Amino acid sequence: MKLIIDTDPGIDDAMAIAYAAAAPEFDLIGLTTVFGNTHVGQSSRNARFLAHKFGLNIPVAQGAAFARGRNAHTPSRHVHGDEGFGDVTEVPEIGANHDLSAAEFLVEMARRHKQDLTVCAVGPLTNIADAMRMDPDFAQNIGQLVIMGGAVFCPGNITEHAEANIYHDAQAADEVFSVAAPTVLVGLDVTLKTLYRTADFEELARHSPEIGGFLRDISRFYLNFYKNVAGLEGCGLHDSTAVIACSHRAMFDVHKTGLKVITNGPEAGATRPDPSRPPLLVCRDVVGEQVVDLFTQRVATLR
Ligand code: BDR
Ligand code: CA
Repeated sequence: MKLIIDTDPGIDDAMAIAYAAAAPEFDLIGLTTVFGNTHVGQSSRNARFLAHKFGLNIPVAQGAAFARGRNAHTPSRHVHGDEGFGDVTEVPEIGANHDLSAAEFLVEMARRHKQDLTVCAVGPLTNIADAMRMDPDFAQNIGQLVIMGGAVFCPGNITEHAEANIYHDAQAADEVFSVAAPTVLVGLDVTLKTLYRTADFEELARHSPEIGGFLRDISRFYLNFYKNVAGLEGCGLHDSTAVIACSHRAMFDVHKTGLKVITNGPEAGATRPDPSRPPLLVCRDVVGEQVVDLFTQRVATLR
């Protein structure tokens, strides 16, 4: 299947892109970037660097710099480091962004590849909402839209109520959930069951010294954040779990429901079931070890 990852790299984003590069099911045809873990310019620079590092000759189309109705964004430096890769800084500038914006690229690829195209969104949903506004057929053109975001049956991570990707542009997320689309939501309900530990990174680096070693190096900062803030001995494979759900849906227990997003007040960014909305599939459970093992198996093959 053809795959576009809409991303804000980002440590776990880098892991997800590595997984997509390694997994034989995917033909990764491009990356689109969005603000989130970093400023969008840094997301694009990081995405181009990752594509080069993982041996992918693919376009990177830059998207939204801010959430709907905002004109500034504060990156999550305490989670992903100053440049999005933890302690690893001074990411080299490689190549240039595509001429099309992220939303234009998504719309054009959806028209060209139709049902063969999967879009996996692992950052704030601004580009996806923009693509839906730009082309009312966008959502129906594509085979599936798989989103890493939300916390439907569990608490949030950025606030008690909200998961970070949805929180960063709650209005765009609510717009996306109001459109009928073949959507699968991979939220904290499952991604916090896929903990990747220091020993997993060491094993990965042994098999794949260059790329696995790079992922281990950028993740030290992230693992410290999880330990110090959440008391967890490992980091969630958030974005990789969404990429895995694109091809291995049977690994997940899913619940069909409509969703709305609270856009204001203390619960802003919360994802709530809403039967009046078009149904989508919310991943409710997963055997975390299966995700972890598949991730290691596949990424370990990268040289
Ligand atoms: C999501 O937020 C970002 O920090 C991660 O890259 C992931 O996409 C997890 O809540
Ligand atoms: Ca992300």
